[in-house]
Amino acid sequence: MGRNANPVDPVPLSRSSRSTLGPTAAAMITGDTLFATIARTICEADCLPRKEFFEAWEVARRVRRRFRGGPVVELAAGHGLLSAILILLDDTTPHATCIDPREPQSHQRVMAVLERRWPRLEGRVHFEQGRLEDTVVPPGALLISVHACGVLTDRVLDLAIQARCRVAVLPCCHAMDLCDSSGLEAWMDGPMAVDATRVARLRAADFTVRCATIPAEITPYNRLIMGQPAER
Ligand SMILES: C[S@@+](CC[C@H](N)C(=O)[O-])C[C@H]1O[C@@H](n2cnc3c(N)ncnc32)[C@H](O)[C@@H]1O
Repeated sequence: MGRNANPVDPVPLSRSSRSTLGPTAAAMITGDTLFATIARTICEADCLPRKEFFEAWEVARRVRRRFRGGPVVELAAGHGLLSAILILLDDTTPHATCIDPREPQSHQRVMAVLERRWPRLEGRVHFEQGRLEDTVVPPGALLISVHACGVLTDRVLDLAIQARCRVAVLPCCHAMDLCDSSGLEAWMDGPMAVDATRVARLRAADFTVRCATIPAEITPYNRLIMGQPAER
């Protein structure tokens, strides 16, 4: 259960574990930082695998260093915790829409505990059951997607390029038979080639791109691509 012996770690839990954040974990979380408070609050929902909390937090804080304001559209959202954290980190974001063909039960449970702790979240995170390919992107949006499988990540980039809006993706499994790798596999591993091609594609579409990573101890799929369209 313990992640390491660091006594000042407010959340001393394995960051890659799929075990549920629940009451046992809550008892180990110390301090009043936003990070620790969100973690303890999510424990009340008792439904989310730990790694998904850490992924959402690490992505949200990196994205918020670059992109603030405007509506959030979270694609392939699953539980949608990322949307809520993005609003908690930037109250100038009016609302977020989570899009996924399937609404997991965890979404309602996560939002219920978060709204109880932060009433200002009430009514600001909506779930829409649907395919991301059909999404109508509102003006000024930030499109964001964590672990949209295979080519779904490319469909997120299609939407961003078409709508010329800010985008952040943390790609997942790379379908090597479907994803474009620009033939770079002779020089680098296939998934890296696919992500490098994604960056090149955004740059070719006149986006400024920033590459980052979240800690590999949380997930091996840890490359974060953030793109902002140039003004035209
Ligand atoms: C690996 S999960 C990631 C979920 C969440 N973003 C996370 O990090 O926990 C991939 C998600 O993509 C959703 N999905 C599958 N096809 C989709 C589509 N066409 N449009 C939007 N979401 C889709 C699935 O229902 C699933 O929730």
